[in-house]
Amino acid sequence: MKISPSLLSADFGNLNRDVIMLNESVADMIHLDIMDGVFVPNISFGFPVIKSVQKIATKPLDVHLMIVNPQNYINQVRDCGAEIMNIHQEACIHLHRTIQAIKNAGMKAAVTLNPSTPVSTLEDIITELDMVLLMSVNPGFGGQSFIPNSVKKVKQLKSLIESSSSNALIEVDGGVNLETGKLLAQAGADILVAGNAVFAAPNPKEMIEALHNL
Ligand code: DX5
Ligand code: ZN
Repeated sequence: MKISPSLLSADFGNLNRDVIMLNESVADMIHLDIMDGVFVPNISFGFPVIKSVQKIATKPLDVHLMIVNPQNYINQVRDCGAEIMNIHQEACIHLHRTIQAIKNAGMKAAVTLNPSTPVSTLEDIITELDMVLLMSVNPGFGGQSFIPNSVKKVKQLKSLIESSSSNALIEVDGGVNLETGKLLAQAGADILVAGNAVFAAPNPKEMIEALHNL
């Protein structure tokens, strides 16, 4: 299982230390959550912070934009060194156009679905996507409880990907720990985002390894 630890739960006063810890861990990517206080009821951090992280990170950056009008920020996200740009289906009217623009900017394109948005909404775009990010909590905050229906959505998405010969990977974000991660692995997830489970663990590196071994 690939693991993308979420920096939202890091100690922002010791961001350098926490990014170095992730560099030294078996994490596959670093997940960065941008919030605008409009699409979600919270504000996190913005592009200057991602640029600072990029200077020290040795892992690819997996940038999750919980913002309205994500199509307006493609070049800024690229200039922060993002490998993957995740935009919400619910925040983007012209999803097909925006996906093409993300890929033309040289990044991998991912679409994120809120817990209430059905997988079927991606039927007509799944072959264009590098990744789908399924939210297993309502976006906006770390440390929330996993929504059990997400396991069913992973299975539905896996079936859609296989039946359409898409190469999209399945990433899941929210309430992931060793218990819920196991269910997601069995259902067909490829990448797990974990914030609280990693950074609140007594030994974050060991927790990343345990999740990685699921
Ligand atoms: C929530 C963010 C998540 C968050 C996950 O809106 O998208 O990436 O950091 O945190 P945990 O793993 O604590 O649920
Ligand atoms: Zn996220």
